[in-house]
Amino acid sequence: MKIVLIGYMGSGKSSIGRRLSEVVGNDFIDLDVEIETSEGTSISEIFQKKGEIYFRKKEAQVLQEVIAREQPAIIASGGGTPCYGRVMDDLLENPNVITVYLKCSVDTLTERLFPEREHRPVIAHLQTEELLNDFIRKHLFERSFYYSRASHIITCDGIDEKEVVEKILFALF
Ligand code: S3P
Repeated sequence: MKIVLIGYMGSGKSSIGRRLSEVVGNDFIDLDVEIETSEGTSISEIFQKKGEIYFRKKEAQVLQEVIAREQPAIIASGGGTPCYGRVMDDLLENPNVITVYLKCSVDTLTERLFPEREHRPVIAHLQTEELLNDFIRKHLFERSFYYSRASHIITCDGIDEKEVVEKILFALF
């Protein structure tokens, strides 16, 4: 079984995924790291040198590869992964995959992402917290259509990572 965490940048997919994998004793796979390893460079460099369309194709392909691995695992997807092509359909149609949306409010995401936006090519150009907040509001609205199709939706505002993990465990087991 693969548990795939989806959600906007800054929703905690990687840190929650790591914690969850420790509790359930499964491997943890960070899709962004797998892509970086496969390409031998950073996500920002891939965006800069090869463009976003290349990146989106690559992330869908790497996701398929990690899902096809035999061992059970918790997978942290990238924020845009389920929002392109047939990715979300494929995840939902796969009987060996459980999708979990880590849902955070626009304000929570803005607060978390503003200090670290330089490393994230999609939001690196946004110079003020207000601009970032406006951007996330629109972008999240578009992406929510995909995220909300997840089998489980976990609201993460105002609770710490340990509590988010507990909520996921309660929902899944
Ligand atoms: C992206 C999110 C990033 C990474 C890339 C694009 C997005 O992953 O895949 O920068 O489009 O939301 P995280 O959500 O892990 O930051």
